[in-house]
This record gives sequence, C-alpha cells and structure tokens, in this order.
Amino acid sequence: MTEEMYRTHTCNELRKIDIGKQVTLAGWVHVSRDHGGVIFIDLRDREGLMQVVFRPEENAEVAKEAHHLRSEDVIEVTGRVAARVPGTENPKLATGDIEVIPNRLRILNRADALPFPIDAEIHNEDLRMTSRYYDLRRPQLSRNLRVRHRVAKATRDYLDAQGYVEIETPILSKSTPEGARDFLVPSRLTPGKFYALPQAPQQYKQLLMVAGVEKYFQIAKCFRDEDLRADRQPEFTQIDIEASFVTPDDIFSLTEGMLAAIFKVACKIDVKTPFDRLTYREAVSRYGSDKPDRRFGIELVDLSDDFRETGFKVFRGALDAGGVVKAINVKEFAGITIGQIDELSEIAKIFGAKGLAFIKIESSEWKSPIVKFFSDAEKAALQSKLKIQEGDCIFFAADKWEIACEVLGRIRLRVAEIQNLHGKAAKGQSGSDWDFLWVMDFPLLQWSAEENKWNAVHHPFTRPKTKDLALLDEKKFSEIRAEAYDVVLNGVEIGGGSMRIHEPQLQEKMFEALGVSAEDRQSLFGHLLRALRLGAPPHGGIALGLDRLVMLLCGEESIRDVMAFPKNNRGLDLMTQSPADVDPRQLRDLGIKLAKEKL
Ligand code: AMO
Ligand code: AMP
Repeated sequence: MTEEMYRTHTCNELRKIDIGKQVTLAGWVHVSRDHGGVIFIDLRDREGLMQVVFRPEENAEVAKEAHHLRSEDVIEVTGRVAARVPGTENPKLATGDIEVIPNRLRILNRADALPFPIDAEIHNEDLRMTSRYYDLRRPQLSRNLRVRHRVAKATRDYLDAQGYVEIETPILSKSTPEGARDFLVPSRLTPGKFYALPQAPQQYKQLLMVAGVEKYFQIAKCFRDEDLRADRQPEFTQIDIEASFVTPDDIFSLTEGMLAAIFKVACKIDVKTPFDRLTYREAVSRYGSDKPDRRFGIELVDLSDDFRETGFKVFRGALDAGGVVKAINVKEFAGITIGQIDELSEIAKIFGAKGLAFIKIESSEWKSPIVKFFSDAEKAALQSKLKIQEGDCIFFAADKWEIACEVLGRIRLRVAEIQNLHGKAAKGQSGSDWDFLWVMDFPLLQWSAEENKWNAVHHPFTRPKTKDLALLDEKKFSEIRAEAYDVVLNGVEIGGGSMRIHEPQLQEKMFEALGVSAEDRQSLFGHLLRALRLGAPPHGGIALGLDRLVMLLCGEESIRDVMAFPKNNRGLDLMTQSPADVDPRQLRDLGIKLAKEKL
C-alpha cells in the first residue's frame, strides 16, 4: 500500500474473515456519535456503511481529532479490522459484525452546515432539488441511478444481440405541428429561423428505415413543453425502436423479450411472457382506462340492457340519448363516509358526469336514494350481474360510453387507493406483482371540438388497420382503428408504438384527414413524403419511457426520483436556477428582442 492510496476497500466490502487486516477506507461521515469520549463514526461510501471506532485508550491523538468530525466531512481512515464487542453487533448492516479501529485519520474535506439531514424523509422537494448534488448522496437515490444504469445496459445488450444498431439522431431538429408543444432554439446563422428539440426521434427513425438500416434503436432524449405530472418531465428518455419488414407480433415479442431481459438482468425479477392483450375498446369497457391497473378487480359492468325501460329518469335519459349505464361493485366499502362520497362525486364531475349514484348494502338492506325507482326485475338484474353481497358499495354512471367508462375508471382507481388495493401484496391478473399487458387497436383519429378538426390519436404516421382502410375513403373517421399499441405495467403506460404508413399516397390521405394543407404538407413533411417515394419498406416500432420503467422498478412514485437532475413541477431547475436571463448581446446575435413586458 502506498501513501497516496485513498482506499484499499469500499465501506461494504469487509466481513468477519477480514478481522485483523490493516485497511484504508475513504468516504463521508454518515453519523458521528460520542459515547463518553469514544467516537463512533458510520463511514459511508456508495457501497454502504462501515463503523469506525476511535477510542482514546487505543490512539489518543487520532481520537482527539475525530472529536471534531461533523456529518458529511470527507475522510480517509487507516486501521485494523476488529470484531465488535459481543452484543453490540448490528444484524441490519452487512458489515454489522465488525468495525475498524483506526490509527490514522486524514480529513480530505470539510462540509459546511447541511441543507437537510441526509437520512431523514424530506417532503420539501424544492429544498432537495436546490442542493441536488447533496440529495443524490442519499442511498436510495444512489441505488436508483445504478438501477437506471443497469436497465440501460441490459437494453443495449439485448437489442445488440437481436441485431439492432444504435444510431444517434439530431437534437437540433425541426418543429412539426403534431403532438405536444415544441421547445424552440433560435438560429444565429439563419436569423429569424428556429430549430425545435425533438419530441421523439419519430421521423428520423422512419427515415432510417428508408435508408435501409432495418433494425434501429436509440436511448434517446426527448423534449416536450407540456404540463408536468409525477410521471412526466419536459426532458425525458425513450428506448426508441424501429424495424423494417415487421408485423405487430414481431414488435410485441421483441419488446417482451427486452423487458424480460431488463427485469432479469437489472433486478433479478422473472417476468412472464407473452403479455396479455386487450383491445382499446375492451380495456376501456372493462377498466375505464386505456392503461388499466389489473392488480385489483372492480371491473365495470354494463347494465344498459337491463334498464332500457326503467322508470328512473337519470338512467332512462342517458340510454334514450344513445348512452350506457355502467356500474362497479366495491367490496367492503359500505362504510364509506359522507366525505368520501363527496370526494368521489367531485371526481365524477371533473370527468364529465352529472352525478354519481350509489347503493350501499348494510344490514342486508340496499341503502340509496335511487333504489325506490327500480323495479323488481331491475333489482334482480343488479343482484345477479354485480353479485351483490353484504358490505358492498355500488357506483353507477349513466352517460355517453366514453364518459361513463372514464368516470367509473377514475372512481375505481381512487377507491383502490383508499382501500390500498395496489399495496405491495397485490398480484396482477398475470399472477405476479408485475402486471404487463398490451392495449391494441386504438382509434386512429379523435375529434377535437376545441380545434374543430380531427387529430391523430398516436401520431400522423401511424397506419390504419388494413381492414379499416376503406373507412378512410368513406371519411368515417371515428370508426377507423389504428395498427397501434401501448404496453402497460401496473396501470402506467410505459411504451407505445405502431405500424407506420409507408405508401406516400396513404400518408397524403392521412394528412388530408388531419386537415394539413397541401402547402404545409410540402413545407413541413416534404422530406418524409419524398423519402416514402424512394422505395420505403414496410416498417413499425415502439418507444418505451425509460424513466417510467425505472421508476416502477425502483418502487418510486415520481420519475424525478430516477433522474439525476430533473426539473421541478414548474419546469425549473432550482439548482442552476434555469431557465435564466441571458446577456443582451446573446439576444442581439440571435436577432431576438424581448417583448417589453418581459424585460
Ligand atoms: P409516445 O409519445 O407514446 O410515443 O411516447 C412513448 C413513451 O414515452 C414515455 N413518455 C414520457 N415519459 C416521461 N415524460 C414525458 N413527458 C413523456 N412522454 C412520453 C411514455 C410513453 O409511452 N414516437 C412515438 C413512439 C413510436 O410510435 O414508436 C412516441 O414518442 O412511457
Ligand atoms: P337526481 O335525480 O339528479 O337527484 O339524481 C339522483 C342520483 O343519481 C344522485 O345520487 C345523482 O348523483 C345520481 N346521478 C345523476 N346523474 C347521474 C348520472 N348521469 N350517472 C350516474 N348517477 C347520476
């Protein structure tokens, strides 16, 4: 061992068999305790903790120095590995049987007053983000970053073995009007013009198929200027995949194999493949969501046929208007409080319902303001379809199919939260804690009342299902299904993709349906349309949200906890204070003048 060597071992490497060895460790003072002049330090590095004990009787000088150590000071200690005094072992620690008795202490750096204690649960996220470099020392976050690394590595290894080539695509790209809002970058060399940061490498990966690459992937940064949520960041990472001469089944089995490899290699979890498949229609009908969480039941039941002739006006009105009556039965929920009913009714209203009728079954009685309107036949139908028992609480939605499903889907999720049904022990329908499924056959187009036009549900390059191609000519836009699919894990959409349009005529027709003018088609998508005319192969692909995947693997509730330097929910980086003002000269170079009120 030379004088210059900072460490011979990491803090989680030594065990009982190392007793008697002379070692050097380096790291941070995690905790320091003074027990009557004896200083106990938990020394921490990224691998774990090792107890270091400074006893005045062993080495008075070093012990005196240790007296001044504070949390997060950076130190190097050299000493002897010893057994802990019997009875003082710590079974919770891998190094809990032993300790280091130092004969040398080097203080490598001091830490100032700390922004917050490192081992406490800190709820003020802004405080954590302001000192993110310090926050990241916390073992949980350090572990998350390493899981993320292993996921990325397993992804690369798997796709490489399948013949996929990783190709980088530009970050300075072009703004196109689909999807979310773009982040723009002004061009200095072409004043007045702008690049856009890519929302996804969608067009580039399709152009790579025209280029004959056949199997492409990229761990790609994507940028979307949209409102943020716990599972959304303005800058996030996709595992982006595209292949030529493939069917949806090829993409399904590639993705299933990749996810199984990622879970196995990164976290030693066995994933059962193939995943279940549900059509969009089925998923929404049964779970009220296109990303169903199937770790608990509470399926939506359709009662429309049983209430067609009902005397209850609310149901009859919805049915006569072409809507549906649906219900869910929540077990052991008859004890629901007035406050909870109000909260659920509020949720129902937010998602478009006019009310949330309910029946609770208590003391063998159906308690509800609406039961008096039901005939015996209607009650019998409810009883048999909903398998009603003591303690149940039934919720109803009578509305257009879309609204009734969405409302009950939201109520279903909130009730599951209240009853803690997706707690740790919940097993999905696949019989595992990890409930994967495919949702397929999404609608191709969706009417936007706000914009008074049809929009692509996925993106404008997604193929209609071959069976539904005629509907495009007949302009029956709401009925066309797309050859598009999402992969869902425990109620989170972790990926989505589709087969693409490879024929220029069909792509033109799609743009027409979306109301893109002939002029815009050329100026915005001319490159793609020209490429499709040069022998574009049939192709398709998928993109998985890497951050969301790692978030689920790490058991985190926010993707910010699996990103090193995320933005907060207002899109700010509190650590660097970005976005920020820039030097007026920079703006001049770019030919940009800020509007007065912003100056
Ligand atoms: P899509 O827009 O569905 O598809 O994105 C694919 C996946 O990326 C993740 N994701 C996000 N993660 C974090 N923050 C965000 N703001 C965010 N937005 C999306 C989701 C989502 O399933 N080019 C197409 C894919 C394709 O057709 O191949 C695309 O980007 O997990
Ligand atoms: P009302 O006759 O409007 O007082 O409604 C009677 C009950 O039905 C109340 O509990 C309402 O919350 C509920 N309700 C009203 N409209 C709907 C609807 N569209 N779907 C389900 N329940 C409803």
